[in-house]
Amino acid sequence: MSDVVRRYTESVDVDKRLWREDIRASLAHARMLASRGIISTSDLQDIQRGMAAIAGEIESGNFKWMSEFEDVHLNIEKRLTQLVGDAGKRLHTARSRNDQVATDLRLYLRDTVDEILVMLREFHARLLDLAEREAATPMPGFTHMQPAQPVTFGHHLLAWFEMTRRDAERFSDARRRINRLPLGAAALAGTTYPISREFVAKELGFDSLCENSIDAVSDRDFAVEFCSASALLMMHFSRMSEELVLWMNPRFGFVKIADRFCTGSSIMPQKKNPDIPELARGKTGRVYGHLIALLVLMKGQPLAYNRDNQEDKEALFDTVDTVLDTLRIFTEMIPGITARPERMREALNEGFTTATDFADYLVRKGLPFRDAHEIVGRAVRRAEEAGLGLSELTLEELAAFSPVVEKDVFEVLTIEGSLAARKHPGGTAPDRVRAAVLRARELL
Ligand code: ARG
Repeated sequence: MSDVVRRYTESVDVDKRLWREDIRASLAHARMLASRGIISTSDLQDIQRGMAAIAGEIESGNFKWMSEFEDVHLNIEKRLTQLVGDAGKRLHTARSRNDQVATDLRLYLRDTVDEILVMLREFHARLLDLAEREAATPMPGFTHMQPAQPVTFGHHLLAWFEMTRRDAERFSDARRRINRLPLGAAALAGTTYPISREFVAKELGFDSLCENSIDAVSDRDFAVEFCSASALLMMHFSRMSEELVLWMNPRFGFVKIADRFCTGSSIMPQKKNPDIPELARGKTGRVYGHLIALLVLMKGQPLAYNRDNQEDKEALFDTVDTVLDTLRIFTEMIPGITARPERMREALNEGFTTATDFADYLVRKGLPFRDAHEIVGRAVRRAEEAGLGLSELTLEELAAFSPVVEKDVFEVLTIEGSLAARKHPGGTAPDRVRAAVLRARELL
C-alpha cells in the first residue's frame, strides 16, 4: 500500500470513537461462541482478560492506534492477539467486519438516543417551569411577523414544548428500528457455524434480530432516520433561536437572556449579542448537510455491503455532538430567560391586537362576520389616525361604527378579556395554559 492509499482507506482516526461498542459486541460474540462450543472456555477467558487490558489502555490514553490497521475493529483485534495469542485470532470466527461495524453503530446510536431522550426530558422540565411562571403574561402573537392577537408568553413556550415533544417521539420511534441485531449476518450470507443470534441479541439488549443477512450488513437507513430526527429537532431549536434573537433586540425587548449566554463586542462597548441562539441557528445547517450526505451516500449502492458505508461516521458523529451540545446549552439557558411584561404590553397596545375580539363581539350582537370585519377595519384606521389604541376610543366614537356597540364592548377590547375568552383546549387563556403545563408534566 502506498501512503496515499493507506490514508484514503483508513478510518481509525474517526471510528475509534466506537471502541466501547466494539469491545462490548466482541465480548458478547465471544460468550456466544463459547456457549455453543465454537471456541473453548479458556479462549473466552483469554479474550475477556485481553479486552479488559485493552479498555484500560484506551481509557488511560496508552493505546497505540495504528493507521496501517485501518479501523477500530482491526486495531483492537490486532492488539488482542498481541496480548493473548491464538484466542485473539479465534474471536473473528463466524463474523465479518461488515456485521461487526453495523452492530457497533446500532449500539452506539441506541445509547445516544437514550441520552438524547434524557436530556430532552430535562429541557422540557425547565421549559414547563418557565411556561407556568409566565402562564398569564400577555404578549403579542404574530402572523406574518406582524402583531396579530394577544397570547400569553406561557402559551408560546408551550408551543415550543409541543414541537420538541414530537422530537422525543420521533427519536423513540427510530430507536425501535435501530435496536436490532445485525451480528450473525457475517459478510452478507450468514455463517456455517452453529451460532445463536438470539443469545447475542439478549446479551447486548437488542429487541430483535435483523431478519435478512443481506439487509443486515447493507442498509444504514437507521442512521438516516437518526439524522432526520436530528434535523427536525435542530429545525425547532433554530426557530426558537430566531425568536430569541428578535425578542432580545431592544426594539422588541421582550426578554433578557442571562449574561453568561451572551458575548460583547471587541469594538462596541454597549453590545450584548445572542451568540448561543445564533450558533444553534447556524449549526442547524450543518446537521441538515449531514442528513443529505447520508442520503446521497446510500442512494447509489447495490446490495450488500460497500466500502462507501465507511463514510457515514463523520456525518453521524458530528450530528450527535451538535444535537447533544445544543440540548445541553438550551437546558441551561431556559432558566436564564427573563420576560419583560411591560415591553410585551406596549407592543400589544400598538398592534390593535384585540381587533378580532371586537369583530367577534359584533357577531355575538347579530352582525355577519364579514360585515363585522369591515366595521372593525374602519375603527382601527380611525384609532390609528388618532394615535390611540382601540380601547381608548370613546363609546360614542365606537358606536358611530355600528349601533349595536354598547358599554360592554370595553370588556372585550382589553387584553385580559381577549385572553380569558380563549379557554378551549389548546387555547391561550391563562387557566388553560396552567392546565396544559400540568398535563405536560404528567406526560414527562
Ligand atoms: N471500516 C469499515 C466500515 O466502517 C468496516 C467494514 C469493512 N469491511 C470490509 N470488508 N472492508 O464500514
